[in-house]
Amino acid sequence: MTFLLLLAVACGLREAEGELSPPGPTLVASEGLAADRAATTQFFQSRPRYEQPLDEGLKPVPGLPDLSAETCGTCHPALYAEWSVSTHAAAWTDPQFQAEIGKSGNRWLCLNCHTPLLVQHDLWPRGLTDGDVELPVLAPNPAFDPKLREEGITCAGCHVRDGAIHGPGLGGDAPHPVVADATFRTSEQCERCHQAEAVYPGKSFVCTFQTGDEWRAGPWDERGKTCQTCHMPEVERPAATGAPARVVRQHWWRGAGIPKFAGVHPPPEANPPGLDVQASPLDDRLQVTLTNANAGHMLPSGDPERWIQVDVSFIDAGGQTVGTWSHRIGQTWEWTSPPKKIADNRLEPEEGRVESLVVPEGAVHASITASSHRISKKNADYHHLGDYPRSVVTHQLEIALPDRARQ
Ligand code: HEC
Ligand code: HEC
Ligand code: HEC
Ligand code: HEC
Ligand code: HEC
Repeated sequence: MTFLLLLAVACGLREAEGELSPPGPTLVASEGLAADRAATTQFFQSRPRYEQPLDEGLKPVPGLPDLSAETCGTCHPALYAEWSVSTHAAAWTDPQFQAEIGKSGNRWLCLNCHTPLLVQHDLWPRGLTDGDVELPVLAPNPAFDPKLREEGITCAGCHVRDGAIHGPGLGGDAPHPVVADATFRTSEQCERCHQAEAVYPGKSFVCTFQTGDEWRAGPWDERGKTCQTCHMPEVERPAATGAPARVVRQHWWRGAGIPKFAGVHPPPEANPPGLDVQASPLDDRLQVTLTNANAGHMLPSGDPERWIQVDVSFIDAGGQTVGTWSHRIGQTWEWTSPPKKIADNRLEPEEGRVESLVVPEGAVHASITASSHRISKKNADYHHLGDYPRSVVTHQLEIALPDRARQ
């Protein structure tokens, strides 16, 4: 077995008494596809479910030349068009993801959610030095498909299992093998990646996605509203070219609606913003009510860096700003080792929060803006993300205030 230095992922090399001691990943030579697969499979079986690839993607699907989304799109053009602009399609190319994965030996951990098929991985882990997730032992994947990796969470990531197409069970006449799988109509399909929590002792990173648990704890589960109900809206149309029209689901997954690439995102009608904003003047106050009206989980959910911002400006008769108020809804973490959550004022499903703001002297008008943010300017600059879209405005309200001088 040869030990090589892996420059792409290694954090650097330290020298100890003339010998190289690898502080990052160790790259070993491939021993051939079968042996590499066996070693990697054995390693993954010792790891939590969410760290395991969803499928190998190595077995061909009879009737299909390859597993690329473009191939699926030749017969499923509407689904392909929707998926193409989704965040799932950008899970690998996402500039923020690209900036983050270069920085640590924990890169292998990221791949099974962002590129869920083993064939999409350039390097396969087969063990950890001293049990340290940042010191994986990696072997090059002889069957690596770089084009499929670009597709991130591609069609096959959710639909291909062991050489067959798994789906909700339409009963149609497909040119590829179909396996009906009841989990396609439940949140279980999504929780594999959207419900995962782990702390890594001594590390300054965590895995904290609780969207599944938040949904279960709220009212939407009991009402029979799954992740798909809100994120994959129903539509009546053929599921494939030439097939009969059926009630099927759009493949948008809009979420917060912040694009990864300017202009590329599902349309607003794919799902509404989670927040509802109401405002009305009351005596010398402006009552602002912020409600998590539409999200089936905490608002915001998922990535702990996300937040929602509400900004109010009070304007006088001459158009001058005479007062401002800002409110941040989100989690606050200290990225120590281990990281600590120090505050969390997110809105639970259907929770409303009333803020009573004192109207400044002379104000005749209030301008209210709500926006959804995925990353702060400071952190985006740290990752050299340039003009990466960081936020989206979800609400703009203009409220006339009674002129108290005349009352
Ligand atoms: C994140 C997982 C995921 C990805 C990625 C994905 N699908 Fe789906 N797909 C689903 C789920 C869940 C359903 C079941 C929807 C339902 O009927 O409740 C589904 C249903 C379908 C159906 C049945 C008809 C329908 O619209 O409900 C077809 C056909 C299909 N997908 C094709 C594709 C194609 C083609 C791609 C890529 C362009 C793709 N899927 C990407 C999760 C996914
Ligand atoms: C040559 C055309 C063609 C190609 C290529 C193709 N499909 Fe299909 N697929 C169909 C047809 C036709 C149906 C049946 C649709 C119906 O009757 O409503 C179908 C059905 C499906 C279903 C529904 C299965 C169920 O639950 O009943 C899924 C999911 C699906 N395809 C996914 C894919 C994916 C993913 C790919 C690419 C890896 C792909 N298809 C490639 C033609 C194709
Ligand atoms: C293989 C892992 C995986 C599966 C399965 C999966 N997701 Fe995702 N999902 C992700 C990742 C990773 C992202 C973010 C990609 C990025 O931002 O780089 C994401 C993004 C999203 C977003 C967009 C969030 C935003 O605001 O941009 C929504 C909504 C979403 N997923 C819903 C779903 C639903 C609903 C399902 C089940 C049908 C599902 N996902 C299945 C991994 C997954
Ligand atoms: C009742 C409808 C509803 C249900 C059920 C629901 N969501 Fe959402 N989800 C939303 C809305 C609305 C948003 C947009 C929130 C916003 O404005 O930021 C959202 C946002 C998201 C986001 C982006 C993070 C954020 O807060 O913006 C992810 C990821 C996500 N949902 C995944 C899921 C998953 C996974 C499930 C199932 C466990 C699920 N959702 C169930 C409505 C729903
Ligand atoms: C358990 C599955 C999982 C793993 C492991 C994972 N991610 Fe993600 N990642 C997600 C999901 C789900 C989202 C969707 C965003 C959300 O829920 O707010 C996401 C979103 C992201 C985003 C976009 C953030 C945003 O707000 O749009 C980046 C960047 C990212 N992940 C980087 C990483 C890196 C780097 C690693 C490895 C250290 C990693 N992820 C490991 C599931 C995962």
